[in-house]
Amino acid sequence: MVSRVIPVDPFDLVIFGGTGDLARRKILPGLYRRFLAGQVPDSSRIIGAARGEMDDDGFRAFVAEAIGEFVSEGKRDGETLARFLGHVHYVSVDAKGDGGWKDLARLMRKDVVQAFYFSVAPSLFGDLAERLHRFRIATETARIVVEKPFGRDLDSARALNATLAEHFTEHQIYRIDHYLGKETVQNLMAVRFANILFEPLWNARHVDHVQITVAETVGVGGRGAYYDKSGAMRDMVQNHLMQLLCLIAMEAPYRFDPDAVRDEKLKVIRALKEIGPEDIVRGQYRGGPRAGGEPSYVEDAEDPASKTESYIALKVQIANWRWKGTPFYLRTGKKLRARASEIAVVFKEVPHSIFDDEEGWRENVLSIRLQPNEGMTLSVMIKEPGPGGMRLTEVPLDMSFAEALGEDGTDIPDAYERLIMDVIRGNQTLFMRGDEVEAAWAWTDPIIAAWEARGDKPKGYDPGSSGPEDALMLLHRDGRRWREIRE
Ligand code: BG6
Repeated sequence: MVSRVIPVDPFDLVIFGGTGDLARRKILPGLYRRFLAGQVPDSSRIIGAARGEMDDDGFRAFVAEAIGEFVSEGKRDGETLARFLGHVHYVSVDAKGDGGWKDLARLMRKDVVQAFYFSVAPSLFGDLAERLHRFRIATETARIVVEKPFGRDLDSARALNATLAEHFTEHQIYRIDHYLGKETVQNLMAVRFANILFEPLWNARHVDHVQITVAETVGVGGRGAYYDKSGAMRDMVQNHLMQLLCLIAMEAPYRFDPDAVRDEKLKVIRALKEIGPEDIVRGQYRGGPRAGGEPSYVEDAEDPASKTESYIALKVQIANWRWKGTPFYLRTGKKLRARASEIAVVFKEVPHSIFDDEEGWRENVLSIRLQPNEGMTLSVMIKEPGPGGMRLTEVPLDMSFAEALGEDGTDIPDAYERLIMDVIRGNQTLFMRGDEVEAAWAWTDPIIAAWEARGDKPKGYDPGSSGPEDALMLLHRDGRRWREIRE
């Protein structure tokens, strides 16, 4: 099945931080792939903006190099690349001064979609927003895109929201959580709300528990300085895992409309119960010989006394009618056994078993794999084939998206590509609203404050493992087990 390409209106997209790492790795290669798909209309422009002095050709060389590095070879012939580079421009601007802004104003058109991607440190958001306004660059329908981290606690998130609100309305602000751009994450909504099968079972009466795992094999080497101020709770749970939890737990929105969806997600965040120390396990990866000589977390963070977690597991409860009594277990960490992200909805036992084969029985599990090998599997019980009585066995009803949709996986747009196109279309469904971000911090802050006040130290775990031993206990004591982390 070839995915349909929906045309978009011509646009001027300015990337502040156009020569930065995110632009190089994700934004520019993503735009090139959208160009290949026919989603960059003829007169559209992609304007890199950064402090460095450079002309259009210099930036085009930078863009070509990024594409050479991050787009597969078969997709970048010289002629196509040259056509794409025809859309690319550069302006040198000083985010904290006045330099370059008039040049940008001259370049921008008022009669096309305007989008400004703030791929810069949050401390510059206010400066950029103010100048876009003062130099009369942004129109009333212009969109701004902001990256995480969106604050590091409730106060800083509120301050950022207030700063942006001085110059832009909420409907112009697109806060990116790239997990919402992943194909399977959106499929979660399709599966839940376009099928009659699941919804009647989607509650505490039928769901025993939910496991959300985002496991990575990489460490924090290279970004230790940023990461050490953040940790897994701020870096991953407050945003990505919380968003996944919301999509699993939310009520059906009255329609697939940005505010209707976000209203429902917000209700979930507000219903999260406070959690105590017994429901949290924090870990830090070890180094040394067992890690094959690789550095430990504290070495990567360059702080031997660091108490920041590179792993966290939490037992979370939602205080509402639908979910009372169904725990959600969340875990995420660096340097784990495999790169594997999965949401597993584990259903309850049948009310009464008519079969003697108690041992063969397993609970039904709906496993939603985000990466790699995006897809869904529903495990069901069947009779083991052959004579000799009724023995039960578990088989998967498997739906690999690449297989089912006849795609080799390379044509599924990357999260960033999809989200940028949503910005151009003016669709905020997959972006976080200001109140959602604040509510997420309001839940996270006291948890972090409590472990800081206690001076808790994370538990050590070996690289290549499933995390600290104590994390197993989080489920064992409830008579449950984590699912295996595997690719
Ligand atoms: C980012 C985090 O938001 O997400 C990183 O800051 C993390 O620490 C990354 O590695 C994971 O994203 P993905 O798409 O590779 O799962």
